[in-house]
Amino acid sequence: MAKQYKIITYGCQMNEHESEKLAGFLTEEGYEPAEDKADADVIVLNTCCVRAGAESRVYGNLGALLPLKRQKPSLILAVCGCMAQNEQAFETLKTRYPYVDIVFGTHNFDKFREFLRRRTEAGERVLEREESNGPIVEGGVYRRDKKSRAYVNIMYGCDNFCSYCIVPYVRGRERSREPRYILQEIGELIERGAKEFTLLGQNVNSYLGEENGTATDFPGLLRRIDGLRGDFTFTFMTSHPKDLSDDTIEAVAMCAKLKKEIHLPVQSGGDAILSAMNRNYTAARYLDRLDKIRARIPACAVSSDIIVGFPGETEADFQATLALVRRARFSTLFMFMYSERPGTPAAEMPDKVPEAVKKRRLKELIELQRELLKN
Ligand code: 5AD
Ligand code: SF4
Repeated sequence: MAKQYKIITYGCQMNEHESEKLAGFLTEEGYEPAEDKADADVIVLNTCCVRAGAESRVYGNLGALLPLKRQKPSLILAVCGCMAQNEQAFETLKTRYPYVDIVFGTHNFDKFREFLRRRTEAGERVLEREESNGPIVEGGVYRRDKKSRAYVNIMYGCDNFCSYCIVPYVRGRERSREPRYILQEIGELIERGAKEFTLLGQNVNSYLGEENGTATDFPGLLRRIDGLRGDFTFTFMTSHPKDLSDDTIEAVAMCAKLKKEIHLPVQSGGDAILSAMNRNYTAARYLDRLDKIRARIPACAVSSDIIVGFPGETEADFQATLALVRRARFSTLFMFMYSERPGTPAAEMPDKVPEAVKKRRLKELIELQRELLKN
């Protein structure tokens, strides 16, 4: 019987997609997906560290896997991704979880097959974390289990350094894939019957692909994808309000295959908080972008993310967030309590908001959004 694997993915779409790459590698190595964890020969935890909750779930799950590992010592446990890339978490995994066989960060995903062999053939415990990212490695084999829908990465990393966010530290600098590879990948997927694509990147608006000395910007890429032959639709995430250009709005309006939806995280409605978050826009500027989208594409669905309880957030700042939400009429809103991430600038900021206040604000915001969706 073939060896079996189980991949447990935490966090965002980018992670989901990278798990498809791990699954591709495992398939090439002769593994098949396991129905149940208990049947697996390899269990991979592809982790997230954007909020503390995501990390504690990983540690909890690792604890729960210990009996399985004791029962079946040949089981290979691997932990990878954003949390493993974080220096502190990497050390914790190394020292406090000795039964984890393979730990690797976001910058050495492409070496997973090699790591697996080092474990299976040489019996080595593999602990690999590279400080910085190298160039993009093309030619990854993804195992996509859904035939009709596919994620396609257009860029990696983030250069924005929003003060609360750990992502730039664990995913490295912004790098855009060359348009020809993106177009080729989508073309092949269309041929195999894919009908719906989601383009992925931390800040897709700053996409800048170079090939043969010419640059393609994000709206340019959208137009080139829209021009591909075939019966398909596509969408993209995530946009940063400071970089969402008029030309991108125009491309969304004009590209027939592009779905009329934009995920545009606002994070807060208070200008002092937006500034402390290093978001580089004001609430008024955000609403200007929103009005522009709606004037040009009346049917466009706009979704957003909001963090409540950022350090220094006053009641007035929170009221400004509620006012913005009332005015914005988001089709979907993802709402979070601020979670302190060691190593980020916000972790050093004074005036931390008490947990109970954060909870109350989150509840109020959720209720407001629910009411707004009823009308
Ligand atoms: N605490 C709470 N939420 C966060 N996000 C990012 N970092 C944090 C944090 N430290 C949220 C933002 C982002 C979404 C993906 O996660 O709203 O847009
Ligand atoms: Fe984090 Fe800001 Fe980059 Fe988004 S744009 S990944 S919130 S630093």
